[in-house]
Amino acid sequence: MIKPHGSETLDPRYVADDAQRAALLAEAESLPSLLVSSAAAANAVMMGGGYFNPLTGYMNKADALSVAKNFKTADGLFWPVPIVNLTQKAGVKPGKLALRDPNVEGNPVLAIMDVQAVETVSDEELREMALEIFGNLDEGHPGVQTFLGQGNTLLSGPIQVLSYSYFAKDFPGTFRTAVEIREEIAKRGWNKIVAFQTRNPMHRAHEELCRMAQERLGADGIVIHMLLGKLKKGDIPANVRDACIRTMVENYFPENTVMITGYGFDMLYAGPREAVLHAVFRQNMGCNYLIVGRDHAGVGDYYGAFDAQTIFDEKVPADALEIEIFRADNTAFSKKLGRVVMMREAPDHTKEDFIALSGTKVREMLGNGIAPPPEFSRPEVAKILMEYYQSNGG
Ligand code: ADX
Repeated sequence: MIKPHGSETLDPRYVADDAQRAALLAEAESLPSLLVSSAAAANAVMMGGGYFNPLTGYMNKADALSVAKNFKTADGLFWPVPIVNLTQKAGVKPGKLALRDPNVEGNPVLAIMDVQAVETVSDEELREMALEIFGNLDEGHPGVQTFLGQGNTLLSGPIQVLSYSYFAKDFPGTFRTAVEIREEIAKRGWNKIVAFQTRNPMHRAHEELCRMAQERLGADGIVIHMLLGKLKKGDIPANVRDACIRTMVENYFPENTVMITGYGFDMLYAGPREAVLHAVFRQNMGCNYLIVGRDHAGVGDYYGAFDAQTIFDEKVPADALEIEIFRADNTAFSKKLGRVVMMREAPDHTKEDFIALSGTKVREMLGNGIAPPPEFSRPEVAKILMEYYQSNGG
């Protein structure tokens, strides 16, 4: 199986031994504690599950700045996005600190951090990092807004993760750690695996991308890996997306060719940079390829349609990652051919030959009680979406 990033075996930060975890949770009650941001909590959950291997904790200022600028830590580890714990709280001291979960009622302890440095990051430095990560400093960009709003105190040091936040409880059938996905891949005897990142209910373009990648790469299976954390307003909740994806797979894929899984992380909307982070953690979960299509992890018009592919040529050194990307062109239903195709593979087509609907347009239709056409969404998927939009207005 493909090796994890940066080490021979995965070193997840979750304390898996029940007795040890209980003892640490008890110890945490007498430690100073900090209510962390949702972004910092999501970083802990990812480190807990082995997705951010080989990181053992939150980055210090030198590493965060270096990662933002040069895609590597001060020690030279390839890494695409700073993994930080920024806070507004003053007076945190080095030493053990209980990190409290902002996303679960009562703010239970999520992790114990061994704070090794407490550093101040100036507004200027935060903006420098945001510009590198998101490619812009627009306050209207959801990722920029979140990143700049966390605070100027950066806490760094290793963590021991004691819970998977709300993910394990709310999505028991779907939330999986990188460790669990590796185990499942081994159990199924798959050797060549394609990962599919998604934050949407899967429409026909998404479905066909998976099928094309599997066929063209000769892969044994596809791991659909959906984001279960926070999204921007207007995006579809994870439980609805999960139901859409399950019905689509059940009806349209042969048995034992698809694993439906999810991960606990908030969407960054960092486009190309996030695509590289996506590749790192799909390698950690044991996949050989990641599908990267049009405007991967994008939002609005902030990124070029294929910037998330070209970044792999421009910023990822050849030996940095073992995972490769499957580059997909714009995919849409061809009225001429009666099936979903990559546009570059239908050179005789004009724009009018395709059914191309934007996500915004589809949300608008659903909001007005109109089902997306069967060329765009499978009827079983359209039905679930219609029910959702009609029950609460979407
Ligand atoms: S993302 O934010 O998770 O990237 P989404 O779930 O819509 O959003 O996309 C999942 C993957 O499918 C991404 O790699 C994206 O580039 C790709 N994709 C989605 N729709 C299309 C399309 N019509 N043509 C080509 N690629 C697409």
